[in-house]
Amino acid sequence: MAEAPGADVREIFAEVPGTYELVNHIMTFGLDMNWRRRAANEASSVGGSRWLDVCTGTGEMAACLSRRAGPGTTVFAADFSLPMLRKALQKPFGGRVAFVAGAAGALPFSDGSFDLVSISFATRNINVSRGALVATFREFNRILRPGGLFVNLETSRPPSRFIRTLLHLYARKSVRPLGSFISGSRAGYSYLSRTLVGFYGAEDLSSIIREAGFSQVSFRRMTWGIAAVHRAVK
Ligand SMILES: C[S@@+](CC[C@H](N)C(=O)[O-])C[C@H]1O[C@@H](n2cnc3c(N)ncnc32)[C@H](O)[C@@H]1O
Repeated sequence: MAEAPGADVREIFAEVPGTYELVNHIMTFGLDMNWRRRAANEASSVGGSRWLDVCTGTGEMAACLSRRAGPGTTVFAADFSLPMLRKALQKPFGGRVAFVAGAAGALPFSDGSFDLVSISFATRNINVSRGALVATFREFNRILRPGGLFVNLETSRPPSRFIRTLLHLYARKSVRPLGSFISGSRAGYSYLSRTLVGFYGAEDLSSIIREAGFSQVSFRRMTWGIAAVHRAVK
């Protein structure tokens, strides 16, 4: 079982469900939707009958997956924030997604029970330490069947120093004030801005995924490396 992240992460996500998607779309100029679609395309290639989106929040990635799932595939979606899950449940999923309350580090599922585990824009949240991140990825590995696929979509450290400088400036000067203004959550968007700047580059994240027991780890950078989608096999 992975080390649990602080209660502050739950508190932050209790403050933002109403405006969470709007703020993301504005701050990324709508790119987040395109990044999720690309990750979902990658994820759906695995086929199988049981897919899980961890840290699903308001369920946007679960929605992308459910549109790509065949009739015999059940999409599960887990999060430890009940306010975020309540927001997700307002979407017209028509019973195509099974929502579950659960923490990423101790998922309420048995070993080898999923073909796919995906996570989008939440790896920064579980990265309370490198050890905690490895342990949580191990938990994902535990519930995947041998040959199952792990897909991780997250912001990334761009390889270009110029783009990095622009991104850091943008995080400090725009993300924090704009997110706080729209959502009313100062803590939430200070946290976002901080974790955005300090997160791993795509190669480092690949090493962490390997350390958690996955093989065939590969990644695709998107939009100058501001985001990356990793795929790995159990
Ligand atoms: C930034 S949101 C991402 C939501 C969604 N995946 C997306 O693509 O927009 C992070 C979500 O992860 C959830 N979360 C963070 N840490 C978690 C943990 N340890 N276990 C379960 N959920 C967690 C939060 O409650 C929040 O809903």
